[in-house]
Amino acid sequence: MSVNKEVKRITTHTLRQMKANKEKIAMLTAYDFSFARIFDAAGIDVLLVGDSASNVMAGHETTLPITLDQMIYHASSVVRGAKRALVVVDLPFGSYQGDSLEALKSAVRIMKETGAHAIKLEGGEEVLDSVKRIISAGIPVMGHLGLTPQSIYKFGTYTVRAKEKAEAEKLRKDALLLQNAGCFAIVLEKIPALLAGEVSESMEIPSIGIGAGNRCDGQVLVMHDMLGINTEFRPRFLRTYLELHTEITSAIRHYIGDVRSGDFPGESEQY
Ligand code: KIV
Repeated sequence: MSVNKEVKRITTHTLRQMKANKEKIAMLTAYDFSFARIFDAAGIDVLLVGDSASNVMAGHETTLPITLDQMIYHASSVVRGAKRALVVVDLPFGSYQGDSLEALKSAVRIMKETGAHAIKLEGGEEVLDSVKRIISAGIPVMGHLGLTPQSIYKFGTYTVRAKEKAEAEKLRKDALLLQNAGCFAIVLEKIPALLAGEVSESMEIPSIGIGAGNRCDGQVLVMHDMLGINTEFRPRFLRTYLELHTEITSAIRHYIGDVRSGDFPGESEQY
């Protein structure tokens, strides 16, 4: 008897079912094959190829400089490592804000050239035409509201968004507009937990929170932050599950010492 070892892929429908069954969704960023493979095998539901690659992979201060070609490079590496997870890719700054046809062309390039399963873009009413056009081409779209880092120069700071009534009302309205346009999920970044909870409960599609409290339907973190590779970035919302910066530094120092002392390579490590 042959045993079917095929892994069942998470889809946008699975995420909706998870919300209906009150099962929380676990999402993490990934930017390369090796980490994507580890996270996927560990059981992560969604891998986000975030434009945070601009910060954590390329060392830029903001997410603005990363290009569509660079996102495509990262995304295709992640797709090769993911057997089960749904792979979502950020449309980078400047690739969709101009007009909806440009947005569609950018999304099509991502889907065709990477093999990813969905795209994500930032904003509400102001990007609605693009969202609708991309979805009408059959491409699943994840929204992103609250702190939207591509607009950092408009906000001026990375502080909590939607604390004031008018901004909170706009966010509630935008969430419903995105849902009605056909988005399959919405990231809620750095907004009050109470607001995130109310928005999540008002929607049929799942919310994925980052700094938005535990009433969201799922959570996302940037891998470099939660693994402790970054030491400078420790916001209140972050839980650090490893201190990789310390671990790696100690391993590298050990290696340097072994090379300098002549201990490495030993007898069993040569031909
Ligand atoms: O680019 C990114 O990593 C993101 C997450 C923070 C949601 O958009």
